[in-house]
Amino acid sequence: MTTLADTWGINEAQFWLRGIRPDEPVEHDEATGIWNVYGYPEILQALSDHAAFSSATQRLVPDAGDRFSEGNLVQMDPPDHHKLRKLVSHAFTPKVVADLEPRIAKLTHELLDAIPGDRTELVADLAYPLPVIVIAELLGVPSSDRALFKKWVDAMFESSDQFSLKERTKEQEEYFAKAMEQVQQLTDYLVSHAQDRRRQPREDLLSKLVLAEVDGARLTDAEVANFGMVLLVAGHITTTMLLGNTVLCLDAHPDQFAKLRADRSLVPSAIEESLRFFSPFAAVSRATGHETELGGQVIPADQLVLLWVAAGNRDPRQFTDPDAFDITREPNSQIAFGRGIHFCLGAPLARLEGRVALSILLERFPNLRTDPADGPEFLPSPAMTGVKRLPLLL
Ligand code: HEM
Repeated sequence: MTTLADTWGINEAQFWLRGIRPDEPVEHDEATGIWNVYGYPEILQALSDHAAFSSATQRLVPDAGDRFSEGNLVQMDPPDHHKLRKLVSHAFTPKVVADLEPRIAKLTHELLDAIPGDRTELVADLAYPLPVIVIAELLGVPSSDRALFKKWVDAMFESSDQFSLKERTKEQEEYFAKAMEQVQQLTDYLVSHAQDRRRQPREDLLSKLVLAEVDGARLTDAEVANFGMVLLVAGHITTTMLLGNTVLCLDAHPDQFAKLRADRSLVPSAIEESLRFFSPFAAVSRATGHETELGGQVIPADQLVLLWVAAGNRDPRQFTDPDAFDITREPNSQIAFGRGIHFCLGAPLARLEGRVALSILLERFPNLRTDPADGPEFLPSPAMTGVKRLPLLL
């Protein structure tokens, strides 16, 4: 069987995208010192037990320190996680998100209007700018600074190496130092905006965050900035990947594409299937809080564990014919947004952006297809499954 992963040369570390099942659902990788979890039920077990599988993983990563962990929701465990999550959930209620639909549609049209001729590079023209502008407007930072966000965020995902706890090569050291420096610049930028909002609050999320109180205390500038960073990073490249991947999956499966063109009410389920088939955020990490048993293996305390949701989404114990792309798959219990207390806060927004953008794209360009002379390019990081360039003929 030739898969899309073979055809387009997606990162070799994501072998399950080629229809290859790992030998075991839970494996220790001697080379990296990390535990990999590939099985669907094993991933759900880990996601539901935050005492055994803590989200505070930075303590295990050499040199990462904890400078970016304050206010970083993804790195928090209960009870602190619960308090901050409750506070920021107000900013992402179904109503707030639903009210963004006209703005997302208008932006999509404007971005598509700006495409000259009958070709597009989907990532640069739509899939990148759309979610970045939306999240920047929500946060209240100028969306015209998006070239800066791109520079800072890209540096975090440039390496094609499998993440490792073992000694790093000089090249890896340099990459890591550069990525940390870029993250620092991004947080400095957000701190200065947070300070500005303390002086002059506006109608934006940053102002809500600086004014919000947890246990009677205001969040610090660092907490606001780190949370803003999580939103800015999580809030844009993932949706960029979702849009690009969905178009690519449809293009590679003409029968499914024809079905969708004939019945646009299938757009939401096509997006769910794209999330399962090419999960943008391929892995989430956890640190074992104590020795624990998972999938027949005993994992000692203080181990770094990668839960490969992208592999779980291909587990034949959960999905019939997992390597088939079926936009009418029902049920589709994909876990691309995670599960449990850390379930993606932005999932309703990502789904809305995906639905609106894909619907408008299909309506305006019914003959959209990949360019056989200029194929897609994928992000190099094994933890990400997504195109960074997708040339299309309109
Ligand atoms: C297709 C798009 C997206 C995917 C695949 C995705 C995936 C994920 C996953 C897997 C997690 C769980 C992390 C964990 O358990 O450690 C997560 C958490 C999170 N996501 Fe998303 N995400 C997407 C879009 C967004 C957007 C648009 C936003 C914000 C506007 C966002 C904000 C967040 C935040 C704040 C968390 C942390 C939640 C917590 O720790 O309680 N994500 N996302």
